[in-house]
Amino acid sequence: MKEKILVTGGTGYIGSHTVVELINSGFEVVIADNLANSSEEVLNGIEQITGVRPQFAKIDCASREELCSFMSDYPDIRCAIHFAAYKAVGESVEKPLEYYRNNLDSLINVIDILRKRENSVIVFSSSCTVYGDPAKEDLPVSEDAPIKETPSPYGKTKQMSEQIIKDSVYAYDNLSAVSLRYFNPVGAHPSALIGELPLGVPQNLMPVITQCAAGVRPSMKVFGTDYNTRDGSCIRDYIYVCDLAKAHVAALGRMMNPLIKSDRFEVFNIGTGKGLSVLEIIGIFEKVTGIKVPHEITGRREGDAEQLWADPRKSNELLGWSASTPVEDVVASAWRWEKRIRNIS
Ligand code: UD1
Repeated sequence: MKEKILVTGGTGYIGSHTVVELINSGFEVVIADNLANSSEEVLNGIEQITGVRPQFAKIDCASREELCSFMSDYPDIRCAIHFAAYKAVGESVEKPLEYYRNNLDSLINVIDILRKRENSVIVFSSSCTVYGDPAKEDLPVSEDAPIKETPSPYGKTKQMSEQIIKDSVYAYDNLSAVSLRYFNPVGAHPSALIGELPLGVPQNLMPVITQCAAGVRPSMKVFGTDYNTRDGSCIRDYIYVCDLAKAHVAALGRMMNPLIKSDRFEVFNIGTGKGLSVLEIIGIFEKVTGIKVPHEITGRREGDAEQLWADPRKSNELLGWSASTPVEDVVASAWRWEKRIRNIS
C-alpha cells in the first residue's frame, strides 16, 4: 500500500511542484487547499505530468472543524507537508491579524490532528526570512545563524510557527517534524504545465523579469545598486522550485525511516549555496533568452536584506539532497512558463 501524504496548500506554487515529486516517488497524495491563491486547474497540470490525479478537497485548514472533519475520512494519514499559508510580505504589513490568524491557526490545526496519530510527521514550509538581515560574518547562512528580527508579520509567522512546532514535538511523543527554510524559489516545471501564478502585480524578482520580457510591463525596477555587494545590487540564493520540491521528499523520507537516527525536530536550509545579484539574474535571463529586460535603477525597497545565501551543507549531508539544476535551465523554465500562460510562441 502506498503511504498517503496530506499536502495542505498543494495547488499552490511550491505545493504543486512538490505533489508532482511525491507522486513520482510513489506516494499517494491528498491535497487540502482553500484555493485562496491558486486554482483547481493546477490539478490538470499535475495529472498531465504524472498520469495521476491527486485527491483534492477544498478545505480551509485554518478552520478546525473543516480540517478535523476532512481528516476523519483519512485515519491512515500520519504525514503532512504543510504549505497552506499567506505569503505576501507587503500585504502582511497591511493585514497582520489575517496573517497571524491564518498562518498560525492552520499550523496548529494540522499539528493538533497529527499529534494524536502514531509516528506522525510534519514537514513545514519555512523561509530564510527567519534569519532577518544577517551579519556579514554569518554568510553563507547556516542553520545555526541567529534568528533575527524580521520586519514583516509574514516573516514573524514563520518564526512563530517554528517555535510552535518545536514546543509541540517536545510535548507530544508521537510527533516528529522538519522545518525547511527556503531561500528564493524560482522557475517552473520543465513541462511548463505548472508554475507560479502571481495574483495582480508580482513582487518577486523572477515573475517581474518574465512579465517585462513578455511585454506585460514596460520596464522593471532594480531596488538599489548602492549595497555593499560586488555590483551594488542585493544578493539572493535562487533555488529551482523542482529541486526545492525534491527536498520535501528527502525530508519526509528521513523522518519516516525508523532506521535513521534523526532528531525529532530538525531544521534545514534549502538553497543552492551560491548567491546571485539582481543585476546578475537579469543578465543571465537576457543571455539565456536573447530578450532584453528594460530596467531602471531606483532606491532601495524597505525591509530588503542586503545579501542572503545559504550554507546548504546540512541538507546536502543529512538529506542526501542538493540543488542540481543549472541557473540557466532554471531561468529558461521560468520563461517557458511565462510564454505558455501568455500564449507567446
Ligand atoms: C521575499 C521575502 C521572503 C519570502 C520571499 C517569497 C523579505 C525580506 N523576504 O524574499 O521572506 O519568502 O519573498 O518569495 O521580505 N527585486 C527588484 N525588483 C523587483 C523585485 C525584486 O530589484 O521588482 C529585488 C529585491 O530587492 C531583492 C531581490 O530582487 O533584492 C529578490 O526579491 P524577491 O523576489 O521579492 O524576494 P526576497 O525579497 O528576497
